[in-house]
Order: sequence, then structure tokens, then C-alpha cells
Amino acid sequence: MTILKILQYPDKRLKRVGVPVENFGPEIQKVIDDMFETHYATPNCAALAATQLDLDIPWHITVIDYTQDKKSPFCIVNGKITYREGEQNEYEGCMSVFPSQLHEKVKRAQKIKVSFQDRHGKPQEIDASGYFAKCIQHELDHLDGYVYLDKLHPIKVERILRKIKKIQRQAKKD
Ligand code: NI
Repeated sequence: MTILKILQYPDKRLKRVGVPVENFGPEIQKVIDDMFETHYATPNCAALAATQLDLDIPWHITVIDYTQDKKSPFCIVNGKITYREGEQNEYEGCMSVFPSQLHEKVKRAQKIKVSFQDRHGKPQEIDASGYFAKCIQHELDHLDGYVYLDKLHPIKVERILRKIKKIQRQAKKD
């Protein structure tokens, strides 16, 4: 297995859109294994989408596991939100967006229904709420070419980016 490079904002490749998976053969199985390997090798990582990784083809795949013991791998292929209900406004971070420096509140649906395929192509449907729902929405945004900064007001993003630059300049001096 291979640990993949996680693309860092503002890398243009983060704007790529997930490519639908049709053939669930060995090539895709290796991509999914590598994604989990990368996920588990990255501290404080809850989930990763293929579009935030240094892959030639950014498949429509996300891997999720936010449990303490990291023994609950959950893989969503070709995922689509089919129902949304309620609202939550919780802090999020992202492995591609200044992971150790930035956490911001993002408005998301509280409950969702997702139809997808598992890693072997079997159609599935799940209900998710709270943290799990937030996580899936964050990852499916990545697969549409968006990072969570794109969900915030542009003025707020400008302020955040200025603050980060200041922190980075300071870190260089120290
Ligand atoms: Ni992210």
C-alpha cells in the first residue's frame, strides 16, 4: 500500500470533481486501500476524499473513520445526498486547509440520507445525523470541487487567510 500526498489549499487540483466509478476491479481496490492507509497515517484525520489526494484520476470515493480505535473503515463510492433535514453549525477542520491552524463553523444539514455504492459496487442507502452527517457533507463537497472555506462568507475567508499568513510569517521568524 501507498501513503498518498494530501493536496494543500490553494492547490488547483482541489477543484477537481470526482470521477464516477464504474469498474470496481483491482485498480479501484488499490486506490481505496491507499486512501485508508493515508487516512490512518494522518493524525486527527476523520475522513478523506479522493479529490484531495495526489491521484491521477480523482475517483468519486471517500473514506471515513473517526473512531478512536480506527477499526471502523467506511467507504462511500459514487455517493449522493438524496434528503436533507434540519441544520447544524459546528466546527470543521480539513486536512487540505491549514489542518493544524484552522477550524471554523460551517452550516450543514443535521440529518441526511445518502445513496452510494460500497467498495465492491453494491448499492447502499444510509441515514446519517450529527457528526457523521457533517463529515459526509464535507467529503461530498470535496468531490464536487469545494473545500469548506468556499461555504463561508468571502470577507470572512479573506480575514482567515490574512490571519494564517501572519501566523506563518511569525513561525518562520521563530
Ligand atoms: Ni476536508
